[in-house]
Amino acid sequence: MVLSRRGSGSITTPSGHTLTIHTRTHDEEDLPHATKKTMADHLRRLESTFTLTPQRMRMIVEAFKEALETGLEKNNQVVPMIPTYVFGWPSGSEQGDFLAIDLGGTNLRVCLVTVQGDGKFEITQSKYRLTEDQKQDDGQKLFDFCAECLKTFIDTNLAQEEGGFCLGDGQTLPLGFTFSYPCSQNKIDHGVLIRWTKGFGAPNTEGHDVAEMFRTSLAKYKVPVTLTALINDTTGTLLASHYVNPSSKIACIFGTGCNAAYMEHVKDIPKINNLGIDPSFDMAINCEWGAFDSFEHEHLPRTKYDIIVDETSNKPGEQSFEKLISGRYLGEILRLVICELIDEGVLFLGQNTYKLEVTYSFDTAFLSLMESDPTDELLMIIGIFTHFFAVETTLAERQFFRALAKLIGRRAARLSACGIAAIVSKMGYLDEGCSVGADGSLYNKYPGFADRIHEGLVDIFGDKGRNIVTHHAEDGSGVGSAIIAAMTKVRKDAGIYTHL
Ligand code: BGC
Repeated sequence: MVLSRRGSGSITTPSGHTLTIHTRTHDEEDLPHATKKTMADHLRRLESTFTLTPQRMRMIVEAFKEALETGLEKNNQVVPMIPTYVFGWPSGSEQGDFLAIDLGGTNLRVCLVTVQGDGKFEITQSKYRLTEDQKQDDGQKLFDFCAECLKTFIDTNLAQEEGGFCLGDGQTLPLGFTFSYPCSQNKIDHGVLIRWTKGFGAPNTEGHDVAEMFRTSLAKYKVPVTLTALINDTTGTLLASHYVNPSSKIACIFGTGCNAAYMEHVKDIPKINNLGIDPSFDMAINCEWGAFDSFEHEHLPRTKYDIIVDETSNKPGEQSFEKLISGRYLGEILRLVICELIDEGVLFLGQNTYKLEVTYSFDTAFLSLMESDPTDELLMIIGIFTHFFAVETTLAERQFFRALAKLIGRRAARLSACGIAAIVSKMGYLDEGCSVGADGSLYNKYPGFADRIHEGLVDIFGDKGRNIVTHHAEDGSGVGSAIIAAMTKVRKDAGIYTHL
């Protein structure tokens, strides 16, 4: 018979909820021999499934680099390497008031940014939660919602401001639209949605110019703005990071989705050499690297859990790299491992586990919480499982879950390092070193994510990998979008490529 000791206590989660915890602890020796062995065996198997050796990482980097180059040469490639028509770095002297709207994976955000020059800015913002229904409802309705929110923001924050923004008749404010999905662009204020990512599926949007759709909604709600630039969050992050820290040359987002942008020489983007742009110019490239290895699945070490995540997603075959890394998927990968072990009779013997069987019920934030649980008893993990899934856990199970979270989180960070390494090596930044502006919930909240990226870079490049350092980036979707709107105004006022 298994002896268990029971006790109770409470913990407070980061979101402020108090969880009452009833513990059921078994000493290791108390566990039936078969269960102990099986869990340890499974952990060993999972370790080898989820661990990336330095050699494997270097192979991924090589294939990644090739994919980046192919994307620059030809249109419609797996990694699309999208030219953004953002020419070069900001001078630092850009100034003015700009509105920015950011349709990301989870929220809609509206900001007023005052760019003050010298790396300084001020920002006023409001956030609106997007519902699951809105993500699947007709695309034009989604843009109508964005226009309505923007109108409300202007009415509450700007219209009555003294000496400020009382717009005259017919006067408009410039608007940067941060739309963080892959869009092919042939000028800065236009973009055709290639595909939805991050679980969005709004019909009548893929294949359409989303800037034009948004303009239709802005006109419908009589919002006094002029949409001057359509921007990806990574491009915004790149420019915003460089504005405050000029050693930043690459920007990454590790959040609900994942992606990177960097500054490329126009002469090295063969697919746009018919546009007659001065080859000595630079242009920001939105890599859309989340698509790396999509469809063919030749290079990434996908496990059977990753394959299930992919095949049951609303976009099977797509965003293969993103599905191993981003916050939308990590919790689901862990949940699938747990469910397999429940089916095999290894975990939660004799308990009702129906709550764990619901797809996407295991939030990626739980992995962060499990990894950062500071208690010997792993009280946070007890709290998660009792409160959200109504199951009791043994200490051995909790240690197993924590080890599993670590494997999945570490793999995500090491794959992220492979993407960064591919850009670094393509651009020849290794010797001189460079700074990588990074943002997103995984990067900002997952304990050790940045350190694991840095370890990964050393595994790939040896000691020189230390020359590449990531740092928390400036708010790309707000500040970055405003800086790009400002740069575009300066460029067009100067008569430079006004049609682009
Ligand atoms: C999108 C990118 C975006 C990234 C981070 C991905 O799913 O395709 O455009 O930059 O998420 O938000």
